[in-house]
Amino acid sequence: MARPLTATVDLEAILQNYRYAKKLQPTCKAFAVVKSNAYGHGAVEVSRYLDKEVDAFAVAAIEEAIALRDAGVVSPILLLEGVFEGEEWALCEKHGFWAAIENTQQLDELRASHAKIEKVFLKLDSGMHRLGVDKEAAPSFVTALKESGQVGEVVLMTHFACADDLSDLTTMKQLAYFEQTRQLIGDIESSVANSAAIMKWSVPEGGWIRPGIMLYGISPFAEVSGRAMGLRPAMTLSSKVISTRKVSKGDKVGYGLGYVAAEDHMLATVAVGYGDGYPRHAENGTPMLVGGKPACLAGRVSMDMITVRMQDYSAELAMGEEVVLWGGDVPVEEVADYAGTIGYELVTRMTARPHYRYTRGDHSQ
Ligand SMILES: Cc1ncc(COP(=O)(O)O)c(C=O)c1O
Repeated sequence: MARPLTATVDLEAILQNYRYAKKLQPTCKAFAVVKSNAYGHGAVEVSRYLDKEVDAFAVAAIEEAIALRDAGVVSPILLLEGVFEGEEWALCEKHGFWAAIENTQQLDELRASHAKIEKVFLKLDSGMHRLGVDKEAAPSFVTALKESGQVGEVVLMTHFACADDLSDLTTMKQLAYFEQTRQLIGDIESSVANSAAIMKWSVPEGGWIRPGIMLYGISPFAEVSGRAMGLRPAMTLSSKVISTRKVSKGDKVGYGLGYVAAEDHMLATVAVGYGDGYPRHAENGTPMLVGGKPACLAGRVSMDMITVRMQDYSAELAMGEEVVLWGGDVPVEEVADYAGTIGYELVTRMTARPHYRYTRGDHSQ
């Protein structure tokens, strides 16, 4: 016997989404961005599955990269934020990691370490003002990296602030700034595009794209689901009905009695809560499927359980009925919208508590 909450991750869907990203930008090589536990999908399982095919992986920090190497992953791995401490450079050399450099301290520490690094991604601050060096400083960083004799190749990289908003011209301005910087430097490979840019913006030919959220079948755009954009959602979060009751018009439900039944209806209690990653801020009305039928959240999300309204009073509701919380016909983007957040956050905040099951398309692993 076990609690019935399961996150089923379709590894083949992730591979197909990776191929789709490359098809959209056929002149580019592509990272598979697997930081933050592959956006909650399981970095080791996802990376092992993709390892034979990807050009490289990208993570946020060296701990994430080492965990992949320890799991047998052999593809190159980029540290998107570079190192946080100078001693990490020696580990980068040992494991063959590539690293971003975005400030003078990282550069100085690299030189002091004498570590040999195959590829360094120099991060340009083209307007987001979060990380990176500016246009004026970039050429001297490239020169210093080349003259160090420690670096095989330097790639110029930047990140977009507003690529998910097609009406915002910031992306065009960032691209123009990037191209101006490239011209100051001369011949240098580029890396600019996240999922939104890969899908909707015109990005430089060649170089490296960095798809993250689209690999998991989730849309980077608020107004449209991943499925509608031709992606294959990779995660299905499902559970079961563990208790049922009829409530009458006026009955109140859950913590704070925050839901009041507007009419008589069936109520299901389902084994999932914020302790699993289901968002506590999800509002009454958040959609799901119970036994394949539309149903919705009714009452505050508890740590381990939610209460769910069936559409009509006569709906047959059995103990053990399957509940799809997101995935398949319940877009995670829509659930996120009801919780005042984005699909990125819902999947990334999944905890270790659900059972994780990995499939390859129709075949269980
Ligand atoms: C530097 C960098 N590149 C690429 C990505 C992937 O972005 P997305 O998940 O929107 O594709 C991220 C994600 O935050 C990032 O920080």
